[in-house]
Amino acid sequence: MKAMLCTGYGSPDVLQFGEASKPTPKANELLIKVQAASVTPSDCAFRKGDPFVVKLMYGLRKPKFAILGVEFAGTVEAIGPAVQRFKVGDQVFGMSPKTFGSYGEYLCLAEDQPIAKQPSNVSAAEAVAICDGSTTALLFLRDVAKLQAGQHILINGASGAVGIYAIQLAKYYGATVTAVCSAANRELVKQYGADHVIDYTSSDFTQSQQRYAVVFDAIGKSTYGHCKRLLTANGIYLMTVPTLSIVLNMAWTSLGKGKKAKFAATGLNQKPANLNFLAELITAGTLKAVIDRRYCLADLAEAHRYVETGRKKGNVVIEI
Ligand SMILES: NC(=O)c1ccc[n+]([C@@H]2O[C@H](COP(=O)([O-])OP(=O)(O)OC[C@H]3O[C@@H](n4cnc5c(N)ncnc54)[C@H](OP(=O)(O)O)[C@@H]3O)[C@@H](O)[C@H]2O)c1
Repeated sequence: MKAMLCTGYGSPDVLQFGEASKPTPKANELLIKVQAASVTPSDCAFRKGDPFVVKLMYGLRKPKFAILGVEFAGTVEAIGPAVQRFKVGDQVFGMSPKTFGSYGEYLCLAEDQPIAKQPSNVSAAEAVAICDGSTTALLFLRDVAKLQAGQHILINGASGAVGIYAIQLAKYYGATVTAVCSAANRELVKQYGADHVIDYTSSDFTQSQQRYAVVFDAIGKSTYGHCKRLLTANGIYLMTVPTLSIVLNMAWTSLGKGKKAKFAATGLNQKPANLNFLAELITAGTLKAVIDRRYCLADLAEAHRYVETGRKKGNVVIEI
């Protein structure tokens, strides 16, 4: 099969188009013919082996999985004899955070991994796009912050993949949303549900007089220290990037009552139930895809270069 092979850690040039053996499903696995994958900042980190913890987890000298790529959408082409949740021909979407593999024509995945049937009202590209940011935003907003109707949330980095689906999920949970983005993305975030917008290029959102039950820094550009004055008495500051500052503040604020700082690594904590829930929201039209650019598999390195600019809006999708 055709695949984009990661030949070592490094620049996008380590991604080389080539041939790999088509995988065979084990008893509990699906063989999925991949139609779409996504490129995320995490994919770039896996490719670079930076931060160093990536190398500790996935191979010191080169990635132990030659085909990277986590999110996918595609068709079930074969199943192992023990598979019960899916049948041949099902259109599915999901994540392969432990074994990767979506940058190739086929991947095998155990059925207990985060996989769901793809809603019929979206394309494979749209499903994979929604899967990327919404799985992260769901765990932060629903499970960590326990966002409630009537609460006010501020989302920094609102035009990125995590931010744009965080806006949509926060509206679903009945919150009022203030989105922080550049002026160029003001209309985009309003279109997806933001009630208020702060342009970070002309004003400092940490100086706002508004107070928020939740401050979600989806892009990881702020600190708890600068944001804690924005929080209500028991407010929660959420951060997607594991900086030393958030780790220390998380430990410190966990000791007492009042304001909290929280980081979560969502990728390895996804379950089929989360994907099924998100699929229901897609079917209901509550979650809508935001696709900035589409590339073919052979142009994956270009897609990685674009994602690394840090300027993408929503998602970058690979169509296979
Ligand atoms: N903890 C976890 O489990 C987890 C899971 C997934 C992702 N992440 C991390 O979450 C972060 C966000 O991922 P993502 O895919 O949403 O990123 P992304 O889509 O690449 O973010 C790009 C967006 O951020 C905006 N932006 C850049 N600088 C900004 C600033 N200073 N203030 C506000 N907005 C700014 C850009 O808009 P402009 O061009 O207009 O500036 C652009 O639209 C990444 O670091 C990723 O690694 C963590």
